[in-house]
Amino acid sequence: MQLEDLVTAKGIEDEAWEALEKSIVYYQGRPIGTLAAYDVSLEALNYDQVFVRDFASSALIFLIKGRTDIVRNFLEETLKLQPKERQLDAYRPARGLMPASFKVVSIDGQEYIEADFGEHAIARVTPVDSCLWWILLLRAYAVATKDYCFASQPEFQNGIRLIVELCLANRFDMYPTLLVPDGACMIDRRMGIFGHPLEIQSLFYASLRAARELLVYEMNQDIVAAIDNRLPLLCAHIRQHYWIDINRLNAIYRFKGEEYGKTAVNLFNIYADSVPYYELDKWLPTKGGYLAGNVGPSQLDTRFFSLGNLMAIISELATEEQSQGIMNLIEERWDNLIGDMPMKICFPALEGEEYRIVTGCDPKNIPWSYHNGGSWPVLMWMLAAAAVKTNRVDLAKRAIEVAQPRLKQDEWVEYYDGKKGRLIGKQSRKYQTWTIAGFLLAKELVKNPAHLPLIGFDQLPQELVSRACEFEINSIAVSSPPA
Ligand code: GLC
Repeated sequence: MQLEDLVTAKGIEDEAWEALEKSIVYYQGRPIGTLAAYDVSLEALNYDQVFVRDFASSALIFLIKGRTDIVRNFLEETLKLQPKERQLDAYRPARGLMPASFKVVSIDGQEYIEADFGEHAIARVTPVDSCLWWILLLRAYAVATKDYCFASQPEFQNGIRLIVELCLANRFDMYPTLLVPDGACMIDRRMGIFGHPLEIQSLFYASLRAARELLVYEMNQDIVAAIDNRLPLLCAHIRQHYWIDINRLNAIYRFKGEEYGKTAVNLFNIYADSVPYYELDKWLPTKGGYLAGNVGPSQLDTRFFSLGNLMAIISELATEEQSQGIMNLIEERWDNLIGDMPMKICFPALEGEEYRIVTGCDPKNIPWSYHNGGSWPVLMWMLAAAAVKTNRVDLAKRAIEVAQPRLKQDEWVEYYDGKKGRLIGKQSRKYQTWTIAGFLLAKELVKNPAHLPLIGFDQLPQELVSRACEFEINSIAVSSPPA
């Protein structure tokens, strides 16, 4: 890099830090989180709140920079918001849930925290991902500070336990994956991702792994056993049923339908005609593939969702070969997935009748905008982490180079529109905190890969591997990932 470029890059980073500082929220004099956006030009709606999922990006960069107090305060205060009592009423958050967001309100000079579990959110969506991000942050805090005693305190152990119980509770379905309503994660609007969306499954897997590390075994033997039981099943299920590459597409293309019983190959009764196989045949590189967006009864959502795929790499939910395959795909389909602004939230967009039916004609989610194929700079840090994990750091560097000049010039907008992400999002906020934090974090991860363990995981513990392999052997038989 030329000296001039270094100076410019430093200037951009300084400005990003300044903006990040401005977004910090204080409660009773202590920093406890960051606003979703510090944009005075638009009506705040709920962007003046601290979102749990948004704060994850800020928290990681604060931890890297030794600003551990804000993360600690956040973890303590949000833990107090988590409902602890079992209750069976509608319109009340379930025991163990974490809020989507919260804000500090002042009444008669006294400060309070007001949480939103989805009961105020647009479309009343349920923030399933909040409790998963919360566990990941608690673990990141432990890794960064080496203070494992913090998470060992009884109230934290109870908090983790309640989340895991909520996730592992018996339900009507028997899948190892987590069944959720539409809009239960970063995509918090109707986008046809109800059921078993990849984003939730990747976060679920990572947070179970984090919980397993944090739970004190002597006090939680039953729950640790339940996690150990679920992890290999979940892992094998995703690796088998979500994976799409050219071999798998071939298998799907020739699937028989209506198979009953134990010998069924097409377990979910996927009808080949529901899969856009001609487009996929053109789009899939010879060496490369990805994890599908969603799998359920006669449902295989073949859209590429970035967060789920990248977190699957980071958490080792995907196999090593699959992880390399996903990175190959990103490289080969650079124009589609990175384009002029990293990175597409999903690809391709829903268009025409499909857009109308699936999104409910949502004007914010028109094709190639917002959640429907928009480009979100925050995803850059997950791309960087996945690139570090797979030794493909060059890809992350290229992406950062694409984004860097525009982010500052465009005032750190929330998302971009258009097939290549050249347009500033129609209703995009400026000074969106996770855009700022995501950029800084991506740069730090690339600069110093030793930060990856904050969010990354190694192989499953040895005693679980054999079980995972058993399931994998049965499953991958229909499709071998790229060599
Ligand atoms: C939008 C995003 C959501 C984010 C929130 C606050 O609703 O879809 O993922 O948490 O804004 O930034």
